[in-house]
Amino acid sequence: MGLLPPVRHGAVRERRPDHVIRIALLPGDGIGPEVLQEARRVLEAASAAGLLDASFETFPHSADHYLRTGETLGEEAFARLRDEYSAILLGAVGDARVADGVHARDILLGLRFGLDLFVNLRPVCLRAPDLTPLRLREHETIDLMIVRENTEGFYTGSGGSLRPGTPQEVAISESLATRYGVERVVRAAFDLARRTGRHRVTLGDKANAVPHVYGLWRRTFREVAEEYPDLEAETRYVDALALELVRHPDQFDVIVTENLLGDILSDLGAGIVGGLGLAPSANLDLRGKGLYEPVHGSAPDLVGTGAANPMAAILSAAMLARENGAPLAAERIEAAVDRALASGVRTPDLGGRKTTEDVGRWIAREVAGGA
Ligand code: NAD
Ligand code: IPM
Ligand code: MN
Repeated sequence: MGLLPPVRHGAVRERRPDHVIRIALLPGDGIGPEVLQEARRVLEAASAAGLLDASFETFPHSADHYLRTGETLGEEAFARLRDEYSAILLGAVGDARVADGVHARDILLGLRFGLDLFVNLRPVCLRAPDLTPLRLREHETIDLMIVRENTEGFYTGSGGSLRPGTPQEVAISESLATRYGVERVVRAAFDLARRTGRHRVTLGDKANAVPHVYGLWRRTFREVAEEYPDLEAETRYVDALALELVRHPDQFDVIVTENLLGDILSDLGAGIVGGLGLAPSANLDLRGKGLYEPVHGSAPDLVGTGAANPMAAILSAAMLARENGAPLAAERIEAAVDRALASGVRTPDLGGRKTTEDVGRWIAREVAGGA
C-alpha cells in the first residue's frame, strides 16, 4: 500500500496513472435516483474540468425492477458489477411495497458480502459550525472516521425462526465474528489512522455483556494495536462511547467497530454534524473495488418534493474519486460542498430553501469553474 500525502480522509489506495474510472450507477429506490443524478452531475463536472476521467452505466435494480421482473440483483448483474467496474455508486434501497426488504438486502448486503467489501468508512465531519446541534467548546471541532466492519456480525443472516406468527414463536439471529474478519478490519483502521495523520484508534464494543464475540474483538484489537506503537489505542463500551460522542466528540479520531454497532453509531455521527443529508460512505475491499453510498436510506417522506439533500451522495462521489486515484477531484468537490454550505445553498433539512437539483447544479458549477 502506498504512502499518500496526509489527507485527513486520505485514500486507501495508491495513486494510479490516468485512467478511466468505470462507474456503475445503482440509483435504487425513493430519493436514491434524485440524489444520484446530482452526484453524477458533479462527477461529470469534475471530468469536464480534467480532474478525472469517468464512464457511467446505470443499473435498474430497485424495488420497481423487483416487482416487475422478480429479480433482486441477479447473477449476471452481480458478475458484471464484480468484473467490469472499479466503483459502484448507489443511491438508496428500501421500499414499503417490498415489506420484507428482500431486494434491498440482496442488492446492498449482496454487494457488500459478495464483493467482500469488508471496510465501511463513514466519516463524521463538521463542515460548517452551525450544523451541529451540540454546544461545542471554543475551537472544538468534529472530524472523525468510523470504520465499520461490513461482512460479519448480525448481518450474515445466521439464525432462524420456529413457529413464526404464533404465540409460541422463537427467533434466533446470531452474531458472527471471525478472527480473520476482525483482524483485517482492525488493521485497516490502524493503517488508515497512520496514513491520514490521525493519532488515536478507539474500539467500540460490548465485551462486558456479550463476551464471546466482543471478547474476540477486544483481544484482537489489543494484539494488533501492539504493531502500531506510534498510535494511541483504547477500548470503550459502546454505550458509553455513544454518550461521549455527544458530549465531547473531539476526543475521537478513528472508531473501529462491529457491523451493527457501526450502523447505529454512524447515524448518531451524522446527527451531530448536520444529519443524514450530509453523511457519505465507502465500502471497500482494499484491493481496488468500492461501493460508495450516502449513509441515508430512501427517505420515502421526501420523494418527489425536491427536498432531498444531495450532499451525502455528492460527498460519496468525492470518496469514490479519492479512492480511484483522483484526489484533486475529491478535494475540489468537498471544497465546493463547503462553499455551498457557507453560502446558504442548502436544502430544507439544513434550514435552506434550495432544491436537490439547485444544490447539485451549484456544486457542479463550482467544481467545473475551479477555485
Ligand atoms: P432514511 O435514512 O431513509 O430516513 C431517515 C430520516 O432522514 C427521514 O426523516 C428522512 O427524511 C431523512 N433523510 C434521509 N436522507 C435525507 C436526505 N438526503 N436529505 C434530507 N433528509 C434526509 O431512513 P429510514 O426512514 O429508516 O428508512 C427508509 C428506507 O430506507 C427503509 O426501507 C430502509 O431500510 C432503507 N434504508 C436504506 C439504506 C441504504 O440504502 N443504504 C440506508 C438506510 C435505510
Ligand atoms: C446502512 C443501512 C443498511 C445497513 C440497511 C439498509 C441494510 O442502514 O447502510 O446504514 O444496516 O447497513
Ligand atoms: Mn444505517
